[in-house]
Amino acid sequence: MLATRTRYVCQECGGAQSKWHGRCPSCEAWGSLVEEVVKAGGTRGRGEVTVPGARRPVALAEVEATRHDRLATGINEFDRVLGGGLVPGSIVLVGGDPGVGKSTLTTMALARLAHHHGVLMVCGEESPAQVRMRAERIGGAGRIGVVAETDLDIVCATLIAERPAVAVIDSVQTLWSSELSSAPGSVAQVREAAGRLMRVAKEHAITIILVGHVTKDGAVAGPRVLEHLVDAVLVFEGERTSELRVLRATKNRFGSTSEIGVFEMTGAGLGQVSDPSALLGRGDLGGPGSVVACSVEGSRPLLLEVQALVAPSELAMPRRLATGFDRNRLAMILAVLSRHAGIPVASADVFVNVAGGVSIEEPAADLAVAIAIASAARGAPTGPLVVFGELGLTGRLRIVAQAERRLREAQRLGLTHAIAPAGTAAVSGTSLRTAATIADALAIALPAGAP
Ligand code: TYD
Ligand code: MG
Repeated sequence: MLATRTRYVCQECGGAQSKWHGRCPSCEAWGSLVEEVVKAGGTRGRGEVTVPGARRPVALAEVEATRHDRLATGINEFDRVLGGGLVPGSIVLVGGDPGVGKSTLTTMALARLAHHHGVLMVCGEESPAQVRMRAERIGGAGRIGVVAETDLDIVCATLIAERPAVAVIDSVQTLWSSELSSAPGSVAQVREAAGRLMRVAKEHAITIILVGHVTKDGAVAGPRVLEHLVDAVLVFEGERTSELRVLRATKNRFGSTSEIGVFEMTGAGLGQVSDPSALLGRGDLGGPGSVVACSVEGSRPLLLEVQALVAPSELAMPRRLATGFDRNRLAMILAVLSRHAGIPVASADVFVNVAGGVSIEEPAADLAVAIAIASAARGAPTGPLVVFGELGLTGRLRIVAQAERRLREAQRLGLTHAIAPAGTAAVSGTSLRTAATIADALAIALPAGAP
Protein backbone atom coordinates (compact mmCIF):
# COMPACT_ATOMS: atom_id res chain seq x y z
CA MET A 1 0.00 0.00 0.00
CA LEU A 2 1.18 3.47 -0.80
CA ALA A 3 2.27 5.32 2.33
CA THR A 4 0.56 8.69 2.33
CA ARG A 5 1.70 11.48 4.55
CA THR A 6 -0.84 13.03 6.86
CA ARG A 7 -0.69 15.96 9.21
CA TYR A 8 -2.83 17.23 12.06
CA VAL A 9 -4.35 20.65 11.62
CA CYS A 10 -5.83 22.70 14.44
CA GLN A 11 -9.44 23.67 13.67
CA GLU A 12 -9.09 26.79 15.82
CA CYS A 13 -5.84 28.41 14.68
CA GLY A 14 -4.91 26.45 11.55
CA GLY A 15 -1.54 25.40 12.94
CA ALA A 16 -0.21 22.12 11.51
CA GLN A 17 1.51 19.40 13.56
CA SER A 18 3.17 16.20 12.47
CA LYS A 19 1.78 14.29 15.44
CA TRP A 20 -1.56 14.32 17.21
CA HIS A 21 -1.73 16.29 20.45
CA GLY A 22 -4.64 16.53 22.84
CA ARG A 23 -3.97 20.24 23.10
CA CYS A 24 -2.80 22.40 20.19
CA PRO A 25 0.80 23.47 20.84
CA SER A 26 0.19 26.77 18.99
CA CYS A 27 -3.06 28.11 20.43
CA GLU A 28 -3.58 25.71 23.36
CA ALA A 29 -7.11 24.74 22.31
CA TRP A 30 -8.12 21.27 23.54
CA GLY A 31 -9.11 18.48 21.17
CA SER A 32 -8.95 20.68 18.09
CA LEU A 33 -6.45 18.72 15.96
CA VAL A 34 -7.91 16.88 12.97
CA GLU A 35 -5.97 14.61 10.64
CA GLU A 36 -5.61 15.65 7.00
CA VAL A 37 -3.92 14.10 3.98
CA VAL A 38 -0.93 16.13 2.79
CA LYS A 39 -1.51 16.85 -0.88
CA ALA A 40 1.93 16.79 -2.56
CA GLY A 41 2.85 19.12 -5.42
CA GLY A 42 0.03 19.66 -7.87
CA THR A 43 -2.01 16.55 -7.20
CA ARG A 44 -5.35 16.81 -5.51
CA GLY A 45 -6.00 13.40 -4.07
CA ARG A 46 -5.57 10.18 -5.95
CA GLY A 47 -5.59 10.01 -9.71
CA GLU A 48 -6.38 13.69 -10.19
CA VAL A 49 -3.79 16.10 -11.54
CA THR A 50 -4.30 19.84 -11.56
CA VAL A 51 -3.52 21.67 -14.78
CA PRO A 52 -0.58 23.98 -14.16
CA GLY A 53 -0.89 27.62 -15.12
CA ALA A 54 -3.56 30.24 -14.73
CA ARG A 55 -7.16 30.00 -15.89
CA ARG A 56 -9.08 32.50 -17.94
CA PRO A 57 -12.31 33.78 -16.41
CA VAL A 58 -15.50 33.38 -18.45
CA ALA A 59 -18.31 35.93 -18.48
CA LEU A 60 -21.23 34.59 -16.48
CA ALA A 61 -23.53 35.09 -19.46
CA GLU A 62 -21.38 32.66 -21.45
CA VAL A 63 -21.33 29.98 -18.76
CA GLU A 64 -23.07 26.93 -20.09
CA ALA A 65 -25.97 26.33 -17.77
CA THR A 66 -27.68 23.16 -18.78
CA ARG A 67 -31.00 23.30 -17.01
CA HIS A 68 -31.44 19.77 -15.82
CA ASP A 69 -34.86 18.77 -14.79
CA ARG A 70 -35.14 17.74 -11.21
CA LEU A 71 -35.41 14.06 -10.45
CA ALA A 72 -38.71 13.71 -8.67
CA THR A 73 -38.78 10.70 -6.39
CA GLY A 74 -42.58 10.56 -6.55
CA ILE A 75 -42.71 10.70 -2.75
CA ASN A 76 -44.44 14.07 -2.53
CA GLU A 77 -43.52 14.79 1.07
CA PHE A 78 -39.85 14.17 0.25
CA ASP A 79 -39.87 16.06 -3.05
CA ARG A 80 -41.46 19.11 -1.48
CA VAL A 81 -38.79 19.35 1.21
CA LEU A 82 -36.13 19.05 -1.50
CA GLY A 83 -37.74 21.93 -3.36
CA GLY A 84 -39.33 19.84 -6.11
CA GLY A 85 -37.06 16.82 -6.41
CA LEU A 86 -33.36 16.03 -6.47
CA VAL A 87 -31.13 18.36 -8.49
CA PRO A 88 -28.84 16.23 -10.72
CA GLY A 89 -25.24 16.25 -9.49
CA SER A 90 -26.18 17.57 -6.07
CA ILE A 91 -25.26 16.06 -2.76
CA VAL A 92 -27.89 15.81 -0.05
CA LEU A 93 -27.35 14.81 3.55
CA VAL A 94 -30.17 13.03 5.37
CA GLY A 95 -29.48 13.09 9.10
CA GLY A 96 -31.37 11.75 12.07
CA ASP A 97 -31.24 9.58 15.17
CA PRO A 98 -30.66 5.85 14.72
CA GLY A 99 -33.92 4.04 14.05
CA VAL A 100 -35.86 7.08 12.89
CA GLY A 101 -36.23 5.68 9.36
CA LYS A 102 -33.42 7.15 7.25
CA SER A 103 -32.66 3.86 5.51
CA THR A 104 -36.34 3.25 4.95
CA LEU A 105 -36.90 6.67 3.40
CA THR A 106 -33.86 6.51 1.13
CA THR A 107 -34.65 2.95 0.03
CA MET A 108 -38.20 4.01 -0.83
CA ALA A 109 -36.89 6.95 -2.84
CA LEU A 110 -34.48 4.69 -4.77
CA ALA A 111 -37.24 2.14 -5.40
CA ARG A 112 -39.37 4.82 -7.07
CA LEU A 113 -36.45 6.33 -9.00
CA ALA A 114 -35.37 2.89 -10.24
CA HIS A 115 -38.35 2.83 -12.62
CA HIS A 116 -36.72 5.42 -14.86
CA HIS A 117 -33.12 5.89 -13.70
CA GLY A 118 -30.07 3.91 -12.70
CA VAL A 119 -29.78 3.81 -8.92
CA LEU A 120 -27.20 2.43 -6.52
CA MET A 121 -27.30 1.70 -2.80
CA VAL A 122 -23.96 1.59 -1.01
CA CYS A 123 -24.56 -0.05 2.34
CA GLY A 124 -21.87 0.10 4.94
CA GLU A 125 -24.05 -0.57 7.95
CA GLU A 126 -26.09 -3.52 6.86
CA SER A 127 -25.53 -6.58 4.72
CA PRO A 128 -27.26 -6.74 1.32
CA ALA A 129 -29.51 -9.44 2.84
CA GLN A 130 -30.71 -7.02 5.52
CA VAL A 131 -31.26 -4.34 2.91
CA ARG A 132 -33.28 -6.83 0.92
CA MET A 133 -35.43 -7.68 3.92
CA ARG A 134 -36.23 -4.01 4.42
CA ALA A 135 -36.87 -3.55 0.71
CA GLU A 136 -39.33 -6.44 0.76
CA ARG A 137 -41.36 -4.79 3.50
CA ILE A 138 -41.50 -1.64 1.40
CA GLY A 139 -42.20 -3.51 -1.82
CA GLY A 140 -41.04 -2.76 -5.35
CA ALA A 141 -37.40 -2.30 -4.45
CA GLY A 142 -36.11 -5.27 -6.45
CA ARG A 143 -34.42 -3.13 -9.08
CA ILE A 144 -32.08 -1.30 -6.74
CA GLY A 145 -28.40 -2.18 -7.29
CA VAL A 146 -26.66 -2.82 -3.98
CA VAL A 147 -22.97 -2.73 -3.06
CA ALA A 148 -21.76 -3.53 0.44
CA GLU A 149 -18.58 -1.49 0.77
CA THR A 150 -16.94 0.89 3.21
CA ASP A 151 -13.61 1.59 1.48
CA LEU A 152 -13.89 5.13 0.12
CA ASP A 153 -11.61 4.46 -2.87
CA ILE A 154 -13.70 1.49 -3.95
CA VAL A 155 -16.96 3.38 -3.40
CA CYS A 156 -15.76 6.28 -5.57
CA ALA A 157 -14.47 3.92 -8.27
CA THR A 158 -17.78 2.02 -8.26
CA LEU A 159 -19.77 5.23 -8.60
CA ILE A 160 -17.63 6.37 -11.54
CA ALA A 161 -17.86 2.96 -13.23
CA GLU A 162 -21.60 2.50 -12.70
CA ARG A 163 -22.62 6.14 -13.14
CA PRO A 164 -26.02 5.80 -11.48
CA ALA A 165 -28.30 8.82 -11.64
CA VAL A 166 -28.81 8.61 -7.90
CA ALA A 167 -26.73 6.85 -5.26
CA VAL A 168 -27.40 6.47 -1.56
CA ILE A 169 -24.46 6.08 0.84
CA ASP A 170 -25.76 4.51 4.06
CA SER A 171 -24.04 5.76 6.07
CA VAL A 172 -21.27 8.29 5.54
CA GLN A 173 -19.93 7.43 9.01
CA THR A 174 -18.95 3.93 7.89
CA LEU A 175 -16.72 5.05 5.01
CA TRP A 176 -13.00 5.11 5.53
CA SER A 177 -10.03 6.19 3.50
CA SER A 178 -6.80 4.21 3.89
CA GLU A 179 -4.88 7.48 3.56
CA LEU A 180 -5.99 8.56 7.00
CA SER A 181 -5.15 6.71 10.19
CA SER A 182 -8.22 8.00 12.05
CA ALA A 183 -11.09 5.63 12.72
CA PRO A 184 -14.18 5.55 10.47
CA GLY A 185 -16.72 8.05 11.73
CA SER A 186 -14.07 10.50 12.97
CA VAL A 187 -14.19 14.11 11.82
CA ALA A 188 -11.23 13.57 9.50
CA GLN A 189 -12.69 10.49 7.81
CA VAL A 190 -16.19 11.88 7.42
CA ARG A 191 -14.91 15.10 5.94
CA GLU A 192 -12.56 13.34 3.56
CA ALA A 193 -15.36 11.03 2.43
CA ALA A 194 -17.79 13.88 1.84
CA GLY A 195 -15.18 15.94 0.00
CA ARG A 196 -14.26 13.11 -2.33
CA LEU A 197 -17.86 12.13 -2.96
CA MET A 198 -18.75 15.72 -3.69
CA ARG A 199 -16.14 15.86 -6.45
CA VAL A 200 -17.44 12.59 -7.88
CA ALA A 201 -20.99 13.96 -7.77
CA LYS A 202 -20.11 17.19 -9.57
CA GLU A 203 -17.73 15.71 -12.13
CA HIS A 204 -19.90 12.77 -13.12
CA ALA A 205 -23.36 14.31 -12.58
CA ILE A 206 -24.30 11.68 -10.00
CA THR A 207 -26.78 12.74 -7.36
CA ILE A 208 -25.61 11.45 -4.01
CA ILE A 209 -27.71 11.10 -0.88
CA LEU A 210 -25.55 10.72 2.20
CA VAL A 211 -27.14 9.18 5.26
CA GLY A 212 -25.64 10.44 8.52
CA HIS A 213 -26.26 9.96 12.21
CA VAL A 214 -26.79 12.91 14.46
CA THR A 215 -25.63 12.95 18.00
CA LYS A 216 -27.77 14.94 20.40
CA ASP A 217 -25.33 17.85 20.62
CA GLY A 218 -24.35 17.58 16.95
CA ALA A 219 -20.71 17.90 17.95
CA VAL A 220 -19.27 14.49 17.08
CA ALA A 221 -18.31 13.65 13.51
CA GLY A 222 -21.75 13.95 12.08
CA PRO A 223 -23.78 16.22 9.88
CA ARG A 224 -22.38 19.33 11.56
CA VAL A 225 -19.01 18.65 9.97
CA LEU A 226 -20.63 18.24 6.56
CA GLU A 227 -23.14 21.05 6.53
CA HIS A 228 -21.03 23.49 4.52
CA LEU A 229 -19.92 20.82 2.05
CA VAL A 230 -23.26 19.49 0.92
CA ASP A 231 -26.02 21.19 -1.09
CA ALA A 232 -28.84 20.33 1.25
CA VAL A 233 -29.20 19.04 4.79
CA LEU A 234 -32.44 17.26 5.64
CA VAL A 235 -33.10 16.26 9.20
CA PHE A 236 -35.46 13.41 9.91
CA GLU A 237 -37.00 13.64 13.35
CA GLY A 238 -39.57 11.82 15.43
CA GLU A 239 -40.22 10.49 18.89
CA ARG A 240 -39.59 6.84 19.66
CA THR A 241 -43.09 6.53 21.04
CA SER A 242 -44.84 7.98 18.02
CA GLU A 243 -45.20 6.81 14.44
CA LEU A 244 -45.09 10.36 13.15
CA ARG A 245 -41.88 11.47 11.41
CA VAL A 246 -41.04 14.95 10.22
CA LEU A 247 -38.49 15.69 7.52
CA ARG A 248 -37.13 19.21 7.72
CA ALA A 249 -34.56 21.02 5.56
CA THR A 250 -32.03 22.95 7.62
CA LYS A 251 -30.05 23.94 4.53
CA ASN A 252 -31.08 23.85 0.90
CA ARG A 253 -29.20 25.51 -1.94
CA PHE A 254 -32.04 24.70 -4.32
CA GLY A 255 -35.15 25.35 -2.28
CA SER A 256 -36.79 26.71 0.82
CA THR A 257 -35.69 25.62 4.28
CA SER A 258 -39.06 26.11 5.86
CA GLU A 259 -40.86 23.22 4.17
CA ILE A 260 -41.54 20.09 6.16
CA GLY A 261 -42.58 16.64 5.07
CA VAL A 262 -44.70 14.49 7.37
CA PHE A 263 -44.58 10.69 7.35
CA GLU A 264 -45.98 7.88 9.39
CA MET A 265 -43.99 4.68 10.03
CA THR A 266 -46.16 1.72 9.18
CA GLY A 267 -45.58 -2.00 8.91
CA ALA A 268 -44.85 -1.53 5.21
CA GLY A 269 -42.52 1.43 5.10
CA LEU A 270 -43.18 5.12 5.55
CA GLY A 271 -46.63 6.36 4.65
CA GLN A 272 -47.09 9.95 3.58
CA VAL A 273 -49.24 12.14 5.76
CA SER A 274 -50.51 14.69 3.32
CA ASP A 275 -53.00 16.14 5.81
CA PRO A 276 -51.06 16.23 9.08
CA SER A 277 -53.59 18.46 10.82
CA ALA A 278 -56.10 15.64 10.57
CA LEU A 279 -53.91 13.63 12.95
CA LEU A 280 -54.73 16.11 15.66
CA GLY A 281 -56.24 14.07 18.47
CA ARG A 282 -59.94 14.53 19.01
CA GLY A 283 -60.00 13.22 22.57
CA ASP A 284 -59.82 15.93 25.17
CA LEU A 285 -59.04 18.99 23.07
CA GLY A 286 -59.74 22.06 25.14
CA GLY A 287 -59.59 20.25 28.48
CA PRO A 288 -57.47 21.79 31.27
CA GLY A 289 -53.95 22.30 29.96
CA SER A 290 -54.80 21.60 26.32
CA VAL A 291 -54.87 24.22 23.57
CA VAL A 292 -54.60 23.92 19.80
CA ALA A 293 -51.83 25.91 18.14
CA CYS A 294 -51.65 26.60 14.44
CA SER A 295 -48.16 26.93 13.09
CA VAL A 296 -47.29 27.54 9.46
CA GLU A 297 -44.42 25.30 8.41
CA GLY A 298 -43.29 26.14 4.91
CA SER A 299 -46.28 26.28 2.65
CA ARG A 300 -48.68 24.46 4.95
CA PRO A 301 -50.53 25.38 8.11
CA LEU A 302 -50.34 22.68 10.74
CA LEU A 303 -52.67 22.31 13.71
CA LEU A 304 -51.00 20.87 16.78
CA GLU A 305 -52.22 20.23 20.29
CA VAL A 306 -50.12 21.88 22.99
CA GLN A 307 -50.43 20.20 26.38
CA ALA A 308 -49.22 21.58 29.69
CA LEU A 309 -49.02 20.20 33.20
CA VAL A 310 -48.34 22.38 36.23
CA ALA A 311 -47.75 20.61 39.53
CA PRO A 312 -46.41 21.75 42.91
CA SER A 313 -42.70 21.04 43.09
CA GLU A 314 -40.69 19.61 45.96
CA LEU A 315 -37.47 20.77 44.36
CA ALA A 316 -35.59 23.97 45.11
CA MET A 317 -35.17 24.36 41.36
CA PRO A 318 -38.52 23.28 39.89
CA ARG A 319 -38.46 21.24 36.72
CA ARG A 320 -39.22 22.86 33.37
CA LEU A 321 -39.47 20.33 30.60
CA ALA A 322 -40.54 20.93 27.03
CA THR A 323 -41.00 18.35 24.28
CA GLY A 324 -41.34 19.77 20.80
CA PHE A 325 -40.86 23.32 22.01
CA ASP A 326 -37.77 25.40 22.79
CA ARG A 327 -36.85 25.32 26.49
CA ASN A 328 -35.51 28.86 26.59
CA ARG A 329 -38.69 30.12 25.06
CA LEU A 330 -40.65 28.22 27.71
CA ALA A 331 -38.63 29.96 30.44
CA MET A 332 -39.45 33.32 28.86
CA ILE A 333 -43.17 32.50 28.65
CA LEU A 334 -43.21 31.42 32.31
CA ALA A 335 -41.57 34.69 33.35
CA VAL A 336 -44.07 36.73 31.32
CA LEU A 337 -46.98 34.73 32.77
CA SER A 338 -45.95 35.34 36.35
CA ARG A 339 -44.97 38.99 35.83
CA HIS A 340 -47.74 40.20 33.53
CA ALA A 341 -50.63 37.81 34.08
CA GLY A 342 -50.35 36.89 37.74
CA ILE A 343 -50.01 33.15 37.07
CA PRO A 344 -47.81 31.85 39.91
CA VAL A 345 -45.48 29.20 38.52
CA ALA A 346 -42.29 29.96 40.45
CA SER A 347 -42.60 26.96 42.78
CA ALA A 348 -44.23 24.55 40.33
CA ASP A 349 -42.90 21.92 37.97
CA VAL A 350 -44.00 22.79 34.45
CA PHE A 351 -44.17 20.33 31.59
CA VAL A 352 -45.08 21.29 28.04
CA ASN A 353 -45.58 18.79 25.26
CA VAL A 354 -46.51 19.23 21.63
CA ALA A 355 -48.58 16.13 20.99
CA GLY A 356 -47.68 13.83 18.11
CA GLY A 357 -43.90 14.14 18.38
CA VAL A 358 -43.74 17.18 16.10
CA SER A 359 -41.80 20.25 17.17
CA ILE A 360 -42.94 23.83 16.73
CA GLU A 361 -40.26 26.35 15.87
CA GLU A 362 -42.39 29.41 15.21
CA PRO A 363 -42.83 32.09 17.91
CA ALA A 364 -46.48 32.15 16.79
CA ALA A 365 -46.97 29.21 19.15
CA ASP A 366 -46.10 31.33 22.22
CA LEU A 367 -49.67 32.28 23.01
CA ALA A 368 -50.91 28.69 22.78
CA VAL A 369 -48.17 27.55 25.17
CA ALA A 370 -48.95 30.42 27.57
CA ILE A 371 -52.68 29.71 27.60
CA ALA A 372 -52.11 25.95 28.00
CA ILE A 373 -49.91 26.61 31.05
CA ALA A 374 -52.38 29.08 32.56
CA SER A 375 -55.23 26.65 31.94
CA ALA A 376 -53.25 23.85 33.59
CA ALA A 377 -52.22 26.05 36.52
CA ARG A 378 -55.84 26.98 37.22
CA GLY A 379 -57.23 23.58 36.36
CA ALA A 380 -59.72 25.34 34.10
CA PRO A 381 -60.61 24.17 30.59
CA THR A 382 -60.61 26.57 27.64
CA GLY A 383 -62.94 24.56 25.45
CA PRO A 384 -61.96 23.74 21.85
CA LEU A 385 -59.97 26.74 20.75
CA VAL A 386 -57.27 27.55 18.25
CA VAL A 387 -54.69 30.11 19.35
CA PHE A 388 -51.73 31.85 17.75
CA GLY A 389 -49.65 34.92 18.51
CA GLU A 390 -46.15 35.88 19.52
CA LEU A 391 -45.52 36.93 23.10
CA GLY A 392 -43.29 39.94 23.86
CA LEU A 393 -41.34 40.44 27.09
CA THR A 394 -43.70 43.26 28.04
CA GLY A 395 -46.69 40.95 27.96
CA ARG A 396 -48.02 42.43 24.73
CA LEU A 397 -49.01 40.17 21.88
CA ARG A 398 -47.50 40.57 18.46
CA ILE A 399 -49.44 39.89 15.32
CA VAL A 400 -48.22 36.96 13.21
CA ALA A 401 -48.16 36.40 9.45
CA GLN A 402 -50.68 34.31 7.51
CA ALA A 403 -53.46 34.63 10.08
CA GLU A 404 -56.15 33.95 7.51
CA ARG A 405 -54.60 30.64 6.45
CA ARG A 406 -54.32 29.56 10.06
CA LEU A 407 -57.96 30.39 10.76
CA ARG A 408 -59.14 28.63 7.61
CA GLU A 409 -57.18 25.50 8.48
CA ALA A 410 -58.73 25.45 11.95
CA GLN A 411 -62.16 25.95 10.41
CA ARG A 412 -61.57 23.08 8.03
CA LEU A 413 -61.13 20.79 11.03
CA GLY A 414 -64.11 22.17 12.87
CA LEU A 415 -62.38 24.58 15.24
CA THR A 416 -64.34 27.80 14.90
CA HIS A 417 -63.28 29.60 18.07
CA ALA A 418 -59.99 31.46 17.98
CA ILE A 419 -57.89 33.91 19.95
CA ALA A 420 -55.23 35.99 18.18
CA PRO A 421 -53.34 39.26 18.75
CA ALA A 422 -55.21 42.55 18.35
CA GLY A 423 -55.20 43.66 14.74
CA THR A 424 -55.72 40.19 13.30
CA ALA A 425 -58.42 40.29 10.63
CA ALA A 426 -61.45 38.07 11.10
CA VAL A 427 -62.57 35.47 8.56
CA SER A 428 -66.18 34.57 7.98
CA GLY A 429 -67.43 31.51 9.79
CA THR A 430 -64.98 31.76 12.70
CA SER A 431 -65.63 33.60 15.92
CA LEU A 432 -62.30 35.33 16.41
CA ARG A 433 -61.55 37.27 19.58
CA THR A 434 -58.47 39.45 19.69
CA ALA A 435 -56.34 40.51 22.63
CA ALA A 436 -53.63 43.15 23.03
CA THR A 437 -51.88 41.56 25.98
CA ILE A 438 -51.43 38.16 27.57
CA ALA A 439 -53.68 39.25 30.46
CA ASP A 440 -56.48 40.12 28.01
CA ALA A 441 -56.03 36.81 26.18
CA LEU A 442 -56.31 34.88 29.45
CA ALA A 443 -59.42 36.81 30.41
CA ILE A 444 -61.01 35.60 27.16
CA ALA A 445 -59.72 32.00 27.26
CA LEU A 446 -60.30 31.43 30.97
CA PRO A 447 -63.14 33.71 32.01
CA ALA A 448 -63.92 34.57 35.62
CA GLY A 449 -65.10 31.89 37.97
CA ALA A 450 -61.80 30.09 37.67
CA PRO A 451 -59.74 30.12 40.87
P1 TYD B 1 -34.50 2.36 9.56
O1 TYD B 1 -34.87 2.91 8.25
O2 TYD B 1 -33.60 1.18 9.57
O3 TYD B 1 -33.87 3.52 10.48
P2 TYD B 1 -32.44 4.26 10.36
O4 TYD B 1 -31.84 3.94 9.06
O5 TYD B 1 -32.76 5.72 10.53
O6 TYD B 1 -31.63 3.78 11.52
O7 TYD B 1 -35.87 2.00 10.30
C1 TYD B 1 -35.99 2.08 11.67
C2 TYD B 1 -37.22 1.47 12.26
O8 TYD B 1 -38.35 1.48 11.44
C3 TYD B 1 -36.98 0.04 12.68
O9 TYD B 1 -37.11 0.01 14.10
C4 TYD B 1 -38.03 -0.75 12.03
C5 TYD B 1 -39.05 0.25 11.61
N1 TYD B 1 -39.73 -0.10 10.34
C6 TYD B 1 -41.11 -0.22 10.33
O10 TYD B 1 -41.78 -0.03 11.34
N2 TYD B 1 -41.73 -0.51 9.13
C7 TYD B 1 -41.02 -0.71 7.98
O11 TYD B 1 -41.63 -0.98 6.92
C8 TYD B 1 -39.60 -0.60 8.02
C9 TYD B 1 -38.79 -0.82 6.77
C10 TYD B 1 -39.00 -0.28 9.22
MG1 MG C 1 -30.11 2.83 8.70
